[in-house]
Amino acid sequence: MTDLLLLPGDGIGPEVTAQVRRVAGKIAPDLTLDERPFGGASFDQHGSPLTDETLAAANSARAVLMGAVGGPKWRDAPRDKRPEAGLLGLRAGMGVFANLRPALCFQPLADASSLKREVVEGLDFMIVRELTGGIYFGEPRYIEDLPGGGRRAVDTQVYTTAEIERVARVAFELARGRRNKVTSAEKSNVMDSGLLWREVVTDLHRREFADVTLEHILADNAAMQIVKNPKQFDVLVTDNLFGDILSDAAAQLTGSLGMLPSAALGLPGTPGLYEPIHGSAPDIAGKGIANPLAAILSFEMALRWSLDRTDLADKLFAAVNRALQHGARTPDLGGKLTTVEMADAVLAEL
Ligand code: IPM
Ligand code: MG
Repeated sequence: MTDLLLLPGDGIGPEVTAQVRRVAGKIAPDLTLDERPFGGASFDQHGSPLTDETLAAANSARAVLMGAVGGPKWRDAPRDKRPEAGLLGLRAGMGVFANLRPALCFQPLADASSLKREVVEGLDFMIVRELTGGIYFGEPRYIEDLPGGGRRAVDTQVYTTAEIERVARVAFELARGRRNKVTSAEKSNVMDSGLLWREVVTDLHRREFADVTLEHILADNAAMQIVKNPKQFDVLVTDNLFGDILSDAAAQLTGSLGMLPSAALGLPGTPGLYEPIHGSAPDIAGKGIANPLAAILSFEMALRWSLDRTDLADKLFAAVNRALQHGARTPDLGGKLTTVEMADAVLAEL
């Protein structure tokens, strides 16, 4: 069985996952690695962004690490052949419904944020984004021509009790190991799906997690609170679309999108999907200057959540922090190191 399946994907994906390979070789040489094309790269080779073989390989690995997908080259591909469709298919096909996106400010980077140091220093909260439901997958969805001219587009936001409950359960369990607080974000003031979300979270809390502090917040207010007073959050649980948006806002608190990893988890015993949350960054792809830390930290999360190597995860996390302390900076952090040199800095600390 493969321990870690690498899906480098497109843009800067191959550059940053190559550094994960180096780090894995140093810290955990016993891990078996495999690699397959994914996203636009897979479309170019096989005519599909996610082949059946790749999905099967993902489901039979212990963990999957994706680099990034997408780019201008595939902008005009049909929707179901676009690189992003491959990513959604992978998330759904692996059943990874809970997406953990840490918003963590590394001490040496407190000045790299566009927010004031006192707002972000010591920041450490976790967004739990529902990842396999909601408007990303809801049916019906289409664009139709209207008889009188013009067109009409429909997307469907849909959630079931079971989908809300299982992701909320992940959030509550996570909070118990942290500062014991969950904030649940929705739009129950205008959306029925938000109303159900709030009811299900409240009910689960009463039944199983009364020891955890629960607060509800409207998603728009959550966006404001994230930039106003982000340290109030411990675990923030929300749906797929709000989670997509709020996690980008949270990423900027921490200095750079190039720093943030994520873990997508399904039911216990199934492989997790690990992704840096930055995209394929076509503007810097191929230049060798992408920050590899988000990918390296995604590997750190894989060690922790799928590969049962918390000891190595702790070691790797500390090495990244030390590298930053000693001044290692790629251009996104205001420095001059290349992708390879940033990984070198982490390897040196290891
Ligand atoms: C993310 C990305 C993806 C999403 C895109 C690339 C499909 O923005 O992981 O946040 O919208 O989920
Ligand atoms: Mg996003």
